[in-house]
Amino acid sequence: MQDKIKTLEDKLAQAYLGGGEKRIAKQHEKKKLTARERVNYLMDEGSFEEIGALVTHRTTDFGMQNEIYYGDGVITGYGTINGRPVYVFAQDFTVFGGALSETHAEKICKVMDMALKANVPMIGLNDSGGARIQEGVRSLGGYADIFYKNVQASGVIPQISAIMGPCAGGAVYSPAMTDFTMMVEGSSYMFVTGPSVVKTVTNEEVTAEELGGASTHSTKSGVAHITSTNDIECLEDLKRLLSYLPQSNKELPTKLPYELNDEVREQLANLIPDNANKPYDMHDVIKGIIDEESFYEIHKNYAENIIVGFARIGGRSVGVVANQPMFLAGCLDVNSSIKAARFTRFCDAFNIPLLVLVDVPGFLPGTDQEWNGIIVHGAKLLYALSEATVPKVTVITRKAYGGAYDVMNSKHIGADFNFAWPSAEIAVMGAKGASEIIFKKEISEANDPAAKLLEKEAEYAEKFANPYSAAQRGFIDEVILPQDTRRKLLKAFSMLEHKVVDTPKRKHGNIPL
Ligand code: COA
Repeated sequence: MQDKIKTLEDKLAQAYLGGGEKRIAKQHEKKKLTARERVNYLMDEGSFEEIGALVTHRTTDFGMQNEIYYGDGVITGYGTINGRPVYVFAQDFTVFGGALSETHAEKICKVMDMALKANVPMIGLNDSGGARIQEGVRSLGGYADIFYKNVQASGVIPQISAIMGPCAGGAVYSPAMTDFTMMVEGSSYMFVTGPSVVKTVTNEEVTAEELGGASTHSTKSGVAHITSTNDIECLEDLKRLLSYLPQSNKELPTKLPYELNDEVREQLANLIPDNANKPYDMHDVIKGIIDEESFYEIHKNYAENIIVGFARIGGRSVGVVANQPMFLAGCLDVNSSIKAARFTRFCDAFNIPLLVLVDVPGFLPGTDQEWNGIIVHGAKLLYALSEATVPKVTVITRKAYGGAYDVMNSKHIGADFNFAWPSAEIAVMGAKGASEIIFKKEISEANDPAAKLLEKEAEYAEKFANPYSAAQRGFIDEVILPQDTRRKLLKAFSMLEHKVVDTPKRKHGNIPL
């Protein structure tokens, strides 16, 4: 028996060494952790159980039968993160550059199936040179198997991808179909085709970092939801993100214990400038409403005219969608609509209530927006918020103009509680623009058109630049003092805890894509 135990120990020791000491040292030189170090850091101490440590590839082409590494370039298994069970795979760059073979894909698919059956989150740590070149179409088949499972799991269990090295070609589409893509600055990149192919096809000179580094994808493309400065920070971010999410669509997110002692937040009273055209930072409103230090922003540096992220109110996880007057005056445009729509749909799929904070002067005008399809992209946000059946609460802090008023979780599209601050202006458009149109003749015929415009503007503002016309009709449930907002939200979300909505039977809706 001792011999047999020794054989097992030797095999496992080889598996734990991945591609060997030299390649591990190379990985460390690049300031990257190995796959095993990542898994061990991510999971609660001692909780990780590996599955398939002794799997090997089946290829014999190109002398591959002589290059066998236990595990075949991916570590798979399960464990707990802050006590909650998850499944994980971590690609091991020290074995064939983490390239995906048929068996490597089978290992990933196996844990994806197990995660789906167990109703627990699936986490992927990606670090791979793509399809295993020696295997050809077999590895492409492996990718497609993973993609298909990504789609089956979508909206059932949270799926998170952390890109911690290369991720190119077909490999990019699995992360793209998961719920969140995280990237490490300086050591990760994602692209469909690399710089050399780009040069050949389009004659553009671009580095890998410029083409698909973390900064590019977190600011220009929006592919990355979260970026971190190194592997450790990325894994910490992953743990934090997970803390706001339920295990699956069958559960509610964990409610943290919370002792109320700060329901009234006086600092909110003086936040809105007297001049309606002056910006203020919507982050201050968010901070003033939520549990202390609980905001975790998603897509922080992308489409900054809208803010999305998770927070807690009275210990409950909520998804926040908020116009940001500091950027483009908080207008909705193509990118911000897509960003907020995707976030809204994630929250709805996973039973996370939505808090929508509104200060929106309308949709961004211009040929650029129209030609890029603001009509269809703006409709995404309208669709997503209308479709959402989770508790939905709105607070209008200042402007809610035009069609954007309807879109931003208005009463008409199913919001449960609609609050407005006394500074709210709920109207078809701003007083100046409105007066220029409806009093055009009167103004042009006046002795002093500028004075007439001011007079008419004041008249219009008096009538419509306030929340009372909407409150009279019940479109606003309550006009509230800013400092009371947190207290109102605590009660509103508590009342909505057991909200149930019956929706018509259908295969699926047809969101404008
Ligand atoms: N298939 C098989 N082996 C691969 C591989 C792949 N797709 N990508 C990398 N490897 C192997 C390398 O042969 C090398 O093996 P070794 O350790 O035995 O020398 C090891 O992985 C590390 O690769 P290396 O090129 O030395 O690392 P790098 O950090 O300099 O570059 C990449 C990393 C990913 C940029 C580079 O390896 C690459 O371009 N790979 C091919 C990407 C690709 O075109 N994939 C197929 C399309 S999806």
